[in-house]
Amino acid sequence: MPDKKYVTIFLEGRRIRVPEGYTVIEALWDTGHDIKRGVGCLSGLCGACAVAYLEPGGKRVKFGLGCQTIVKEKMDITVMPFFPSRMAKYDISNMEKPIDKLLEIYPELNMCKSCGFCSVACPEWINVSKVMSYLKDGRYEEATEMMFDCILCGLCASRCPRGIAPQIISLFVQRAIEKDRPVPENLRNRLKEIEDLKDEEIWGNILKMDEKSLKDFCEKVRKESD
Ligand code: SF4
Ligand code: SF4
Ligand code: FES
Repeated sequence: MPDKKYVTIFLEGRRIRVPEGYTVIEALWDTGHDIKRGVGCLSGLCGACAVAYLEPGGKRVKFGLGCQTIVKEKMDITVMPFFPSRMAKYDISNMEKPIDKLLEIYPELNMCKSCGFCSVACPEWINVSKVMSYLKDGRYEEATEMMFDCILCGLCASRCPRGIAPQIISLFVQRAIEKDRPVPENLRNRLKEIEDLKDEEIWGNILKMDEKSLKDFCEKVRKESD
């Protein structure tokens, strides 16, 4: 078996050696760091594991996700702490045309100066600054589409010199435009059926079925829907 290769990195200010190919999170665990808060899915989806790092010879600090960033020789890495973001209180279900209240709820949107610091920090390569410009211009659909991959890691907010939390503002906009979007008729009917517990008896019967009955039932439903 070939010898395991190692890289030397600077993790949280300490010089350590870890196996080549490890992610930052694996390197932290390998060296006995008790890291719980900054770890969730380990798949680049939950946004819990933001890190900042400087590559050897690099001219500026980069940002990424600890579970997706592979350590490299002489990399200088730190785990980002939780960063507070203002989340306004609102009850969207009782709001008439909630999108019209955007600037009332998040007036700081108007303080955005399109500096782009938020975009540089985003590990999902979202042009957050452009999203903010779109929101200011009322181009809500385009803005929310651009934020589709946002994992709410909060790195953009941690970089903003104006104290704006783009991910939180965008969340409100997504909720607001969804609320105003008409619900398709088939979905509305289905929701009503669920509300009325229309399928309760069918589900009760399904739960009692043995494997063969379940297969026959599925086959029958499949044929009916063909
Ligand atoms: S960092 Fe702040 S001020 Fe700069 S573009 Fe992003 S949201 Fe606007
Ligand atoms: S937009 Fe902000 S919160 Fe969303 S992934 Fe990018 S940096 Fe993280
Ligand atoms: S642990 Fe969820 S994104 Fe890294």
